[in-house]
Amino acid sequence: MPQESENANQPIDAQPHDAQSIDAHWMELACQQARLGEGSVEPNPMVGCVLVRDGQLLASGFHARYGGPHAERVALANLASVTGPTGQTARGATAYVTLEPCCHYGQTPPCTDALIEAQVARVCCAISDPFPQVQGKGIDQLRAAGIQVDVMSPPYAGAVELLAPYWKRVTERLPYVIAKWAMSLDGKMATRTGDSRWISGPESRVHAHRTRGRVDAIIVGSRTARLDDPLLTARQGGPRTPLRVVVDSQASLSCESQLARTARESPVLVWTAANADPGRIEALRACGCRVQQSTSLDSTNVEAAAGVGEEDTLVQLLRYLVDEYRATNVLCEGGGQLLGALFDRQLIDEVHVYVAPKLIGGQSATVPCLGLGMELVALGPPLKVIERLTLGEDTFVRARRRHDVPGL
Ligand SMILES: NC(=O)c1ccc[n+]([C@@H]2O[C@H](COP(=O)([O-])OP(=O)(O)OC[C@H]3O[C@@H](n4cnc5c(N)ncnc54)[C@H](OP(=O)(O)O)[C@@H]3O)[C@@H](O)[C@H]2O)c1
Repeated sequence: MPQESENANQPIDAQPHDAQSIDAHWMELACQQARLGEGSVEPNPMVGCVLVRDGQLLASGFHARYGGPHAERVALANLASVTGPTGQTARGATAYVTLEPCCHYGQTPPCTDALIEAQVARVCCAISDPFPQVQGKGIDQLRAAGIQVDVMSPPYAGAVELLAPYWKRVTERLPYVIAKWAMSLDGKMATRTGDSRWISGPESRVHAHRTRGRVDAIIVGSRTARLDDPLLTARQGGPRTPLRVVVDSQASLSCESQLARTARESPVLVWTAANADPGRIEALRACGCRVQQSTSLDSTNVEAAAGVGEEDTLVQLLRYLVDEYRATNVLCEGGGQLLGALFDRQLIDEVHVYVAPKLIGGQSATVPCLGLGMELVALGPPLKVIERLTLGEDTFVRARRRHDVPGL
């Protein structure tokens, strides 16, 4: 069955009339389609496609899983499956695609071939693909075959948001970092004794577990690993099994911890210092943890670790996750020191904050984003709130950094 949105086939007079708004209308539908692949398609991008002719939706599709067919081929197949061999084809239609169609053989054949074969008249893309094997070549191939290709300018904002994690990995060799914490109304994420169970309510925790199930890795600081003894698994399930990572310069993670005891069932990476105790490293490996030593982390001085010209250890870790695990989305779950270190290095792309109706108080109670922080409010990173939810008694706020995409 074609994947169709309920509001897509509104009567034609309820749809916008100017060309730009018409494109935006159908591209929004393509974005909604693309989002359905979240968590299942990475490290590929989420892509959606809708086929439209004479203001009518013919069919739509999305890239549903890594290694599976791409959105354009799915939309064309969906059209064929309802109309049959003698029914209407995509000939003369416009294909709205959230990303420039691919033109190379990867896990699947090029989408440009499918669109050319289907004789679509026009392809409208939300944005061109920064992937080195595409980068405008898909557009060139379609144009060479006589198809009109329009790349939206500025790029369609909905698609830019959708593609931000893919864009970051491809253009910066860094994953998209989501910082998550639960806090009281007075902004504390633990009491002065380090107790944080539970600040947020059960509905918030279920919600947070769903996020875990769509990311590639979850990172915590060594103190959180020690005080909270978390499991860091996605108890609600989800399309991915995240790698669990502890930033732990002294390789101090206990072999009795929940993380170490479950390391053979679900992977755990201990990110430690070049001069960490070899005995500790051996012990952790013996209980199934993966241990990686960072050249810019010093077990005797975490703050002054990176040497001259050396990449910061957190950047090193994030690049390692991209290179070894093809990580696109990484979730940092605290505590305050680790979140603060990521914040100071401008490595956070998105924040997920659960605010609970509690007061904790205390000068020495942990707050999110410790570290140096901003000198002036006006210098803080520009954030945009993209979601607000009420979860039981709590309020969830999701905000993301505005992204540097050419033309936006
Ligand atoms: N409410 C929430 O959402 C939430 C979430 C998580 C934690 N918490 C609470 O937060 C508290 C722990 O937070 P915390 O701020 O004390 O500790 P943390 O951030 O969990 O861990 C800090 C430790 O991580 C290690 N580390 C290694 N490299 C680092 C780097 N570049 N930057 C920063 N840290 C680095 C250091 O330990 P080594 O020297 O050993 O390497 C450092 O002492 C606990 O009470 C926990 O319950 C609350």
